[in-house]
Amino acid sequence: MSNRSLTRRTVTAGLAAGAAAALLPPGARSATLGYKFRGPAPDRVLGLAPPPACTPGTIGRTAGPFYTPSTPRRTTLLEPDSGGEPLVLQGLVLTPDCRPVPGAVVDLWHCDERGRYDNRGFRYRGHQFTDSAGAFRFETVRPGHYTGRTPHFHVKVQGEKTRLLTTQLYFPDLREANRRDFIYRGELLLRLDRAGGHWRARFDFVPAPV
Ligand SMILES: [Fe+2]
Repeated sequence: MSNRSLTRRTVTAGLAAGAAAALLPPGARSATLGYKFRGPAPDRVLGLAPPPACTPGTIGRTAGPFYTPSTPRRTTLLEPDSGGEPLVLQGLVLTPDCRPVPGAVVDLWHCDERGRYDNRGFRYRGHQFTDSAGAFRFETVRPGHYTGRTPHFHVKVQGEKTRLLTTQLYFPDLREANRRDFIYRGELLLRLDRAGGHWRARFDFVPAPV
Protein backbone atom coordinates (compact mmCIF):
# COMPACT_ATOMS: atom_id res chain seq x y z
CA MET A 1 0.00 0.00 0.00
CA SER A 2 1.38 3.43 -0.91
CA ASN A 3 1.81 6.15 1.64
CA ARG A 4 -0.72 8.16 -0.31
CA SER A 5 -3.57 5.62 -0.05
CA LEU A 6 -2.70 4.98 3.61
CA THR A 7 -3.00 8.70 4.28
CA ARG A 8 -6.30 8.96 2.40
CA ARG A 9 -7.72 5.97 4.30
CA THR A 10 -6.60 7.40 7.63
CA VAL A 11 -8.14 10.80 6.87
CA THR A 12 -11.43 9.23 5.70
CA ALA A 13 -11.65 7.09 8.85
CA GLY A 14 -10.92 10.14 10.99
CA LEU A 15 -13.67 12.16 9.32
CA ALA A 16 -16.17 9.33 9.75
CA ALA A 17 -15.33 9.02 13.45
CA GLY A 18 -15.68 12.79 13.89
CA ALA A 19 -19.07 12.81 12.17
CA ALA A 20 -20.30 9.92 14.35
CA ALA A 21 -19.18 11.71 17.53
CA ALA A 22 -20.93 14.90 16.42
CA LEU A 23 -24.23 12.99 16.04
CA LEU A 24 -24.20 11.62 19.60
CA PRO A 25 -26.87 13.25 21.78
CA PRO A 26 -25.68 15.11 24.90
CA GLY A 27 -24.87 12.78 27.75
CA ALA A 28 -24.52 9.73 25.50
CA ARG A 29 -20.73 9.58 25.49
CA SER A 30 -19.30 6.28 26.56
CA ALA A 31 -15.92 5.33 27.96
CA THR A 32 -13.80 3.18 25.67
CA LEU A 33 -14.80 0.38 28.04
CA GLY A 34 -18.43 0.75 26.96
CA TYR A 35 -19.84 2.21 30.21
CA LYS A 36 -21.95 5.30 29.64
CA PHE A 37 -20.74 8.37 31.54
CA ARG A 38 -23.50 9.28 33.99
CA GLY A 39 -21.94 12.18 35.85
CA PRO A 40 -20.56 11.95 39.39
CA ALA A 41 -21.71 9.22 41.74
CA PRO A 42 -23.42 10.34 45.00
CA ASP A 43 -20.81 11.83 47.32
CA ARG A 44 -18.92 9.21 49.30
CA VAL A 45 -17.61 11.83 51.76
CA LEU A 46 -14.29 10.03 52.07
CA GLY A 47 -12.37 13.22 52.85
CA LEU A 48 -9.33 12.12 50.84
CA ALA A 49 -6.84 14.94 50.39
CA PRO A 50 -5.32 15.15 46.92
CA PRO A 51 -1.55 14.78 46.72
CA PRO A 52 0.54 17.96 46.38
CA ALA A 53 1.61 17.12 42.82
CA CYS A 54 0.08 14.83 40.22
CA THR A 55 2.30 14.90 37.15
CA PRO A 56 3.55 12.75 35.53
CA GLY A 57 0.46 10.67 34.89
CA THR A 58 -0.05 7.14 36.15
CA ILE A 59 1.91 4.60 34.14
CA GLY A 60 0.04 1.84 32.35
CA ARG A 61 0.56 -1.92 32.66
CA THR A 62 -0.89 -4.80 30.69
CA ALA A 63 -4.47 -5.92 31.32
CA GLY A 64 -3.29 -9.52 31.01
CA PRO A 65 -5.53 -12.26 29.66
CA PHE A 66 -8.30 -12.20 32.28
CA TYR A 67 -10.21 -8.95 31.70
CA THR A 68 -13.98 -9.32 31.36
CA PRO A 69 -15.95 -6.32 30.00
CA SER A 70 -19.39 -5.11 31.15
CA THR A 71 -18.88 -5.81 34.84
CA PRO A 72 -21.57 -5.04 37.46
CA ARG A 73 -21.70 -1.49 38.79
CA ARG A 74 -21.08 -1.86 42.53
CA THR A 75 -19.04 -0.71 45.49
CA THR A 76 -18.46 -4.06 47.14
CA LEU A 77 -16.94 -7.13 45.53
CA LEU A 78 -17.31 -9.13 48.73
CA GLU A 79 -19.37 -12.31 48.47
CA PRO A 80 -21.07 -14.16 51.36
CA ASP A 81 -18.41 -16.88 51.04
CA SER A 82 -15.44 -14.58 50.45
CA GLY A 83 -12.30 -15.91 52.02
CA GLY A 84 -9.06 -14.06 52.41
CA GLU A 85 -8.39 -10.80 54.14
CA PRO A 86 -10.92 -7.97 53.73
CA LEU A 87 -9.54 -4.82 52.14
CA VAL A 88 -10.91 -1.39 51.26
CA LEU A 89 -9.37 0.11 48.13
CA GLN A 90 -10.00 3.81 47.78
CA GLY A 91 -8.51 6.87 46.16
CA LEU A 92 -9.01 9.70 43.72
CA VAL A 93 -9.01 10.15 39.97
CA LEU A 94 -7.24 13.41 39.21
CA THR A 95 -6.12 15.63 36.35
CA PRO A 96 -2.38 16.26 35.83
CA ASP A 97 -2.79 19.47 37.88
CA CYS A 98 -4.49 17.60 40.76
CA ARG A 99 -8.08 18.61 40.12
CA PRO A 100 -10.76 15.92 40.67
CA VAL A 101 -12.19 14.00 37.73
CA PRO A 102 -15.84 13.45 38.71
CA GLY A 103 -17.84 10.72 37.00
CA ALA A 104 -14.78 8.72 35.86
CA VAL A 105 -15.16 4.96 35.44
CA VAL A 106 -13.00 2.78 37.70
CA ASP A 107 -13.19 -0.89 36.65
CA LEU A 108 -11.47 -3.29 39.07
CA TRP A 109 -10.71 -6.99 38.73
CA HIS A 110 -8.45 -9.42 40.56
CA CYS A 111 -7.98 -13.05 41.51
CA ASP A 112 -9.32 -14.53 44.73
CA GLU A 113 -7.27 -15.27 47.82
CA ARG A 114 -6.07 -18.54 46.23
CA GLY A 115 -4.91 -16.91 43.00
CA ARG A 116 -7.90 -17.91 40.84
CA TYR A 117 -9.73 -15.59 38.41
CA ASP A 118 -13.42 -16.06 37.77
CA ASN A 119 -13.47 -16.10 33.97
CA ARG A 120 -17.12 -17.14 33.65
CA GLY A 121 -18.84 -14.77 36.07
CA PHE A 122 -18.03 -11.54 37.88
CA ARG A 123 -16.52 -12.67 41.16
CA TYR A 124 -14.07 -9.94 42.21
CA ARG A 125 -14.99 -7.82 39.21
CA GLY A 126 -16.91 -4.56 39.24
CA HIS A 127 -16.94 -0.94 38.18
CA GLN A 128 -18.10 2.33 39.69
CA PHE A 129 -18.01 6.06 38.94
CA THR A 130 -16.08 8.63 40.93
CA ASP A 131 -18.02 11.20 42.97
CA SER A 132 -17.70 14.99 42.73
CA ALA A 133 -14.36 14.82 44.61
CA GLY A 134 -13.06 12.27 42.09
CA ALA A 135 -13.22 9.58 44.81
CA PHE A 136 -13.88 5.86 44.48
CA ARG A 137 -14.10 3.12 47.11
CA PHE A 138 -14.29 -0.66 46.73
CA GLU A 139 -14.70 -3.27 49.43
CA THR A 140 -12.94 -6.47 48.46
CA VAL A 141 -10.24 -8.90 49.65
CA ARG A 142 -6.50 -9.09 49.20
CA PRO A 143 -5.73 -11.00 46.01
CA GLY A 144 -3.57 -14.12 46.35
CA HIS A 145 -0.50 -15.33 44.47
CA TYR A 146 -0.63 -17.13 41.15
CA THR A 147 2.28 -18.63 39.29
CA GLY A 148 4.74 -16.13 37.93
CA ARG A 149 3.18 -12.97 39.38
CA THR A 150 3.32 -10.91 42.53
CA PRO A 151 -0.17 -10.23 43.99
CA HIS A 152 -1.84 -7.30 42.23
CA PHE A 153 -5.05 -5.53 41.39
CA HIS A 154 -5.99 -4.83 37.77
CA VAL A 155 -7.70 -1.51 37.03
CA LYS A 156 -9.03 0.39 34.05
CA VAL A 157 -9.79 4.08 34.58
CA GLN A 158 -11.29 6.60 32.20
CA GLY A 159 -12.81 10.05 32.64
CA GLU A 160 -15.04 11.74 30.12
CA LYS A 161 -12.09 13.81 28.91
CA THR A 162 -9.24 11.39 29.52
CA ARG A 163 -7.63 8.53 27.71
CA LEU A 164 -8.21 5.02 28.95
CA LEU A 165 -5.66 4.04 31.61
CA THR A 166 -5.06 0.31 32.09
CA THR A 167 -2.74 -0.51 34.95
CA GLN A 168 -1.99 -2.70 37.98
CA LEU A 169 -1.47 -1.96 41.68
CA TYR A 170 1.01 -3.68 44.01
CA PHE A 171 1.47 -4.30 47.73
CA PRO A 172 4.34 -2.64 49.60
CA ASP A 173 4.56 -5.49 52.14
CA LEU A 174 5.50 -8.06 49.46
CA ARG A 175 8.89 -6.69 48.58
CA GLU A 176 10.52 -9.97 47.61
CA ALA A 177 7.65 -11.12 45.36
CA ASN A 178 7.52 -7.64 43.77
CA ARG A 179 11.25 -7.72 43.07
CA ARG A 180 10.92 -10.98 41.12
CA ASP A 181 7.94 -9.78 39.05
CA PHE A 182 8.76 -8.53 35.54
CA ILE A 183 5.63 -6.32 35.26
CA TYR A 184 5.94 -4.70 38.71
CA ARG A 185 6.72 -0.98 38.96
CA GLY A 186 7.37 0.85 42.22
CA GLU A 187 5.28 3.84 41.05
CA LEU A 188 2.22 1.60 41.34
CA LEU A 189 2.59 0.65 45.01
CA LEU A 190 -0.50 1.06 47.16
CA ARG A 191 -0.36 3.03 50.38
CA LEU A 192 -1.37 0.26 52.73
CA ASP A 193 -2.31 0.09 56.39
CA ARG A 194 -4.46 -2.03 58.64
CA ALA A 195 -7.34 -0.71 60.73
CA GLY A 196 -10.31 -2.31 62.47
CA GLY A 197 -9.55 -5.83 61.24
CA HIS A 198 -9.22 -4.98 57.57
CA TRP A 199 -6.65 -3.61 55.18
CA ARG A 200 -6.94 -0.07 53.86
CA ALA A 201 -5.28 0.64 50.52
CA ARG A 202 -5.05 3.98 48.75
CA PHE A 203 -4.09 4.87 45.21
CA ASP A 204 -4.73 8.03 43.19
CA PHE A 205 -4.92 7.74 39.40
CA VAL A 206 -3.93 10.42 36.91
CA PRO A 207 -5.10 9.32 33.47
CA ALA A 208 -3.74 11.27 30.50
CA PRO A 209 -6.02 14.00 29.14
CA VAL A 210 -7.55 13.46 25.69
FE1 LIG B 1 -3.46 -10.68 36.99
